[in-house]
Amino acid sequence: MIREKIKEWFVSGIVNRKEKNILLTSLIYSIDKIANTVGHYDAYIKKEIKEKDLILKMPKIDNEKNINNEIYNMDANVLIREIECDILYIDPPYNSRQYANMYHVLENLALWQKPEVKGIARKFDTTHLKSGYNQKNAIDFFNDLIENAQTKYVLLSYNNMGNKGHSRSNARMSDEDILKVLNKKGKVEIFEKEYKEFTTGKRKRGENKERVFFVEVNN
Ligand SMILES: C[S@@+](CC[C@H](N)C(=O)[O-])C[C@H]1O[C@@H](n2cnc3c(N)ncnc32)[C@H](O)[C@@H]1O
Repeated sequence: MIREKIKEWFVSGIVNRKEKNILLTSLIYSIDKIANTVGHYDAYIKKEIKEKDLILKMPKIDNEKNINNEIYNMDANVLIREIECDILYIDPPYNSRQYANMYHVLENLALWQKPEVKGIARKFDTTHLKSGYNQKNAIDFFNDLIENAQTKYVLLSYNNMGNKGHSRSNARMSDEDILKVLNKKGKVEIFEKEYKEFTTGKRKRGENKERVFFVEVNN
């Protein structure tokens, strides 16, 4: 109902594009706080849950800050061919779980195209949104990205789940393959930090480390 109202206000000119996006941001954040899920929308919690109020908050908008920022919403492997940067920070998906499939409710709210939804989780067909980074050959997409990056430094966040966890949690790229790709680009250093792992509650593992690979790109 709220999303429909936002659309109605936008179409009739009551709010402009920026205002519409602020309202939408507020709605998406608030909904995520009260959703009866474990954080993603693959399934919902079936036992009785405590009802919470939907509280819409105003995002902190500061028109003075970051005025030169540019935001793109597109495939990183396409974008990389069009931009140059000083530092390329990459935080790609780690495992086989496709984001569009996990966050389909929020994606739907953002686009509001009302596609056909199916199954108990009421998902829409996300085939066109599938990412190469969740696939078995993720390293090919990563290699393509790094080879085409025009940057002085690369920072890559990637965890060390390797083959340790539940199979869907296994990292898609091995350290060995990541290093092969990065070593071609420049001098690599790895920084590590213990991290609270993301699991769907299926099992517990310790020693999950969040790592940052830092590359000083060869001239
Ligand atoms: C680990 S999350 C990054 C989270 C982000 N750093 C944050 O703090 O919100 C990985 C993100 O990469 C996006 N993604 C996956 N494949 C992509 C691609 N080919 N191009 C651009 N984004 C992609 C996913 O949709 C997801 O939002």
